[in-house]
Order: sequence, then structure tokens, then C-alpha cells
Amino acid sequence: MTATISIDGKGADYPVHAGSIGPEVIDIRKLYGNTGRFTYDPGFTSTASCESKITYIDGDQGVLLHRGYPIEQLAEHSSFLEVAYLLLNGELPNQKEHDEFKYLITRHTMVHEQLATFYRGFRRDAHPMAIMCGVVGALSAFYHDSTDIHDPKQREIACHRLIAKMPTIAAMAYKYSVGQPFLYPKNSLSYTGNFLRMTFGVPAEEYEINPVVEDALDKIFILHADHEQNASTSTVRLAGSSGANPFACIAAGIACLWGPAHGGANEAALEMLREIGRPERIPEYIARAKNKDDPFRLMGFGHRVYKNYDPRAKVLGAAATKVLDTLGISDPVLDTARELERIALSDDYFIEKKLYPNVDFYSGIILSAIGFPTSMFTALFALARTTGWIAQWTEMMEDTDQRIGRPRQLYTGHGPRDYVPLAQRG
Ligand code: ACO
Repeated sequence: MTATISIDGKGADYPVHAGSIGPEVIDIRKLYGNTGRFTYDPGFTSTASCESKITYIDGDQGVLLHRGYPIEQLAEHSSFLEVAYLLLNGELPNQKEHDEFKYLITRHTMVHEQLATFYRGFRRDAHPMAIMCGVVGALSAFYHDSTDIHDPKQREIACHRLIAKMPTIAAMAYKYSVGQPFLYPKNSLSYTGNFLRMTFGVPAEEYEINPVVEDALDKIFILHADHEQNASTSTVRLAGSSGANPFACIAAGIACLWGPAHGGANEAALEMLREIGRPERIPEYIARAKNKDDPFRLMGFGHRVYKNYDPRAKVLGAAATKVLDTLGISDPVLDTARELERIALSDDYFIEKKLYPNVDFYSGIILSAIGFPTSMFTALFALARTTGWIAQWTEMMEDTDQRIGRPRQLYTGHGPRDYVPLAQRG
């Protein structure tokens, strides 16, 4: 199939590619050569930047598939490490592959001892994401034997290192902020159990892992593992397209994720729910969200792609109740969240604009119940998303169509003009 684009009466045909599912795409790579025109698409709402086999989203139906598997099934039956394997390798592992992968990841959990000194350069009150950007970027200064991006073996080792070391790095960021000693990883524990211990354990005593907490956090990691070509993943791909090493690319992804419109929304959502405080105050905040002159938005609501319920929010809504019940926590924030969701979903403004709760709406409530300070929320997101980022980066490195990413622009500034010496400027 082809699509004809006609400008000034002159038309040309462009190939239309069909994906395995989802909308077809018009291949406009020759458009500029044929017409001297670019397309204009701020925010890339109509632009596919790459071909990918990893994740599929149908935002209208609220569907999220990783390598074809629905996210609800993965969250219910799988583990984070298994999902990481799936994202990287395309298939679920058999028992032998699973055990080998677990062994490999487990053997990379420690960080270079000298890396600990980096933390001491940060203020104690530094945001964990500031530390994560710096420390993950610094990994490229320590692991020279896995930065040759043209060597598939080195690329694989870099993937394993990043997945393995992120929990250690994130836990160290937390420990540094509370002034407690860093804990070395304990390889007999699960990926998530090990992270919990490095975060909340102390060397003075044994740390007991609560299996409900371990399971809920593992689910949160699964639900955040990948999400197609979102802002931070596109950032990782764009950074990688120039040939930057994988540690630097992931640091770029972390920087992008930090923003409140992206990964920072779970922190902002919980802060908003706490500020609302009790269900009676919800109408006031709904009115603010609808007021065009007020920049306030309901955090944890709305999504660029989902124009239906975010399937991840459904899983987390149920998990929030289970975790709070098991831990015996009665947090009014959960009641406020449920009531806010109920009111917003029956309000014309939110219905018309198809604004539904997203993954960040309930995740903060669970993380807070587990004991994480809000400032750690986005760091946990980065920890989980590293698997998706590195899987997408690997796919890009193996893509023969891959070129340096270089968007164009619609220039609306001055035309050419002559330089005016300082003394002659009015
Ligand atoms: N509260 C109130 N109104 C909203 C909200 C919201 N949370 N989100 C969107 N709208 C309104 C906008 O005001 C706009 O109205 P208009 O058409 O009258 O101007 C309309 O809905 C469309 O909004 P856009 O900003 O154009 O939608 P976009 O797709 O660019 O934005 C985004 C998506 C950034 C997620 C937005 O919904 C938002 O800011 N939500 C709150 C932050 C948040 O929860 N982010 C997490 C996203 S999920 C993630 O990153 C893991």
C-alpha cells in the first residue's frame, strides 16, 4: 500500500508499513528530498521514530503488551527479573535460562568500591534523582570493558550490569540521605528482596523481608519496566543514536524521567492527595483542575497515549488495598484517592477529555505505606525502567536502519541581518 502526498499539485507516493498490530505508518523518509518540506509534529503525537518489537500499547482500549504478553498477566504471574529477561530477549525464559539469568544478574549487584566516594560529594539533602543521574553516568568511568557499543558481548554485559546495579545505586542514594551506612547486596535474596534489605536494613541486625511488601514492590517494578517510546525511552534512544555508551544513555533517561509530567508524577500525585487531605475538599481541587486560568492539574490523571483506564493503574489500585490491609495501615489518602477517582470519572470535563487515572495515581500510596519517602519514588521508577531503556537501546543498536536522531524545525526567527557594533546599538 502507498499514500500519496500532494503539494502544489505535485504528488508522490510513500510506502505504508503495516505493524503486526496497531495503526499503519506512512514512511515519509523521502518527503524532504521529494518536496523540500518537513512535517511539523511538536511532541511527536503523529510520528513513529523507530520500529520496535518490544512493547505494544493500544491507548484507546487500555491495552499494554510486552513481547505480546498482557501486563495484567505478567503482573499476576511473573517476576520482575523474568520480565527483564523477556524484554531483553523476546521470550520468557525456560527454567535453565531463568536460573542462568538470575545468576548473571546476581553476580553484578555490587558496585565498584570507589563509587561510594561519589555519594559523599553530594549534599545530604540532595534529591535521589540528582544522585542517580550523576552516579549512573559515572558508571561509564568505571566499567571500560563494557562501553564498546560495537561489541555485542560488551553490550550484553552493560545490560546485565545496569539491571543488577540499579537497586544497589538507588538504595545507596537513600542510605546516604538518612545518614546510615551502605549495605552490600545479599545474593541469596530475590532481586526485589535484596533491594528492600539494602534500603531498610542496617548492619546491626538481620532484616526480615515481608513477603507481601516484596510481592507488591516486585509488581510495581513489573508495571514500570517498559512503556514503548515514552519521553525518557526516546531520550535514551536519541542519546544512543550518536554512539554514546549505555551508561551515559541511561543517565540521560533518568534526567528526562525526573520531570513532573513523566516519572515525577507519582511523587506529585501523593503530595496532591495529602494536600487535599480529606474527601470533602475534592470538589475544590476538581474545580481548580478544570479552570483554564489555573495551572493546577490532577496529578496521576491523564496520559499522552491512554485515552482509557491505564491497565497498570487497575493492578495498582487493587494492590494498594492489599498492602495497606496487610500492613494494618489506615491511610486517609487511599480513601481520598478512591473518592477523587470516582468523582473525576463521572465529571463531564474528565469524560470528554478522556482523562483516567494513570500508573502514578496509586503507586505512591503503596510506596509510602512500605516506608519510602516521596523523594525516592521516581528513583524506584528509574530502577525498574532501566530494563526497558536498555532493551530498547539494544534493539536500536541491532537495527540496520538506525541513524543519528536529528529532528528538524519550523524556523520563525529573524532572517539574515548584519552585525551591529556595540557602540551603534540603541
Ligand atoms: N488534570 C486536568 N486537566 C488535564 C490533565 C490533568 N491531569 N491532563 C490533561 N488535562 C487537560 C489539559 O488541560 C488539556 O485541556 P485543553 O484541551 O482544554 O487544553 C487536555 O486535557 C489535553 O492535555 P494535554 O496536556 O494536551 O495532553 P498531553 O497528552 O500532552 O499530556 C500528560 C499528557 C502530560 C500526562 C497530562 O495528562 C498531565 O500533565 N497529567 C498530569 C501529570 C501526570 O500524571 N503525569 C504522569 C503521566 S504517566 C507517566 O509518565 C508514567
